[in-house]
Amino acid sequence: MTSEYLRKQLNDLVEKYGGTRKAADAIKSKFGSAPTHSAIYKAMNGAGTSDFVLSCYIKALEEHVEGIQKMGRIISVANQKGGVGKTTVLINAGLYMASLGKKILFLDIDPQNNLVISLSPELANDPEFKKGSHPAHNINMFEWDGDSPFTPIPYEISENIHIIGTSKLSGNVTQNSIYNLADSLDLIKEQYDYIFIDSPPSAGTLQHAALSIADALIIVSQPQKLSVKGVDDLMSTVRQVQRRMNPDLRILGIVINQVKRPSSKTQAIHVELLKEKYGELVFSENLYDTVRVTESMAEGKSLIEYSPKHAKDFGFFSFTDEFVSRLEKEVKHG
Ligand SMILES: Nc1ncnc2c1ncn2[C@@H]1O[C@H](COP(=O)(O)OP(=O)(O)OP(=O)(O)O)[C@@H](O)[C@H]1O
Ligand SMILES: [Mg+2]
Repeated sequence: MTSEYLRKQLNDLVEKYGGTRKAADAIKSKFGSAPTHSAIYKAMNGAGTSDFVLSCYIKALEEHVEGIQKMGRIISVANQKGGVGKTTVLINAGLYMASLGKKILFLDIDPQNNLVISLSPELANDPEFKKGSHPAHNINMFEWDGDSPFTPIPYEISENIHIIGTSKLSGNVTQNSIYNLADSLDLIKEQYDYIFIDSPPSAGTLQHAALSIADALIIVSQPQKLSVKGVDDLMSTVRQVQRRMNPDLRILGIVINQVKRPSSKTQAIHVELLKEKYGELVFSENLYDTVRVTESMAEGKSLIEYSPKHAKDFGFFSFTDEFVSRLEKEVKHG
């Protein structure tokens, strides 16, 4: 391997990390001591660093990236208010990541099972699934016999889009079964780049499960009083979960959905209220109200696939772009 090739590899990795300082921290976590910021800069630019040292930097950074990716990226969606667009946003974000070539698992834990009905009606109608005995039904993840966790077999919608569904049978979940779900998911999570969890519109145990297992949370709100209150209530639940159960949970952002065009005065007031209260947590572009969204969901498609023109006009392209850049930032900053 030539020095030039090694330098190029190092440059790419440092860029991925968001700079020499972050790269130095990652190298320190492997070797116990960090090169200076300027030593890395010199190594990237070819000023007298040996190939051996270059290779050590590269190895440390690669292992660190691998470690981060192995953590799995589990994204939950929530708002305890019903009908605000949680399932819609999750489907659009997940299918977009799949279109970028990522391997996606959708995990539905909302007993209404709208995610399964929309993405995979054939699974929802499967007689074994209806009885709860299908290996892609999550009831088996919540309650397993014996000492070893149940290994789910997700249903393949396509090569890189898999799903684990649910139904009313999984409605009564105890705190203990959340741990079972997490243990069961651990057995398969490394097969996926991203796991998207849809949760029910209530502040019960299932929402706790979604928050306890996730690395990142998308909050969906409509610009109206009750749904904004849903965000406020959810924020206190999130802080509690971060303190008690899942300190790694990060809020990816708050998406304001179903804004009318032109927006009414009340809607505009609530959009402003959310922005004032939650600042940069709020996605910069809203999602607008269009009947095409419901049509696309009925066909199990994202709006981008179903009608790119409407996706552009109604904010779905800006949303997915911002979603990806927020996710990448999350990975870079750990
Ligand atoms: N931007 C939008 N424009 C028009 N309709 C939308 C939009 N977003 C969601 N909808 C529609 O609103 C309804 C509720 O959306 P969705 O099921 O995603 O909400 P939810 O928060 O998941 O509901 P629940 O709390 O019951 O799980 C659906 O019929 C969906 O198609
Ligand atoms: Mg839903």
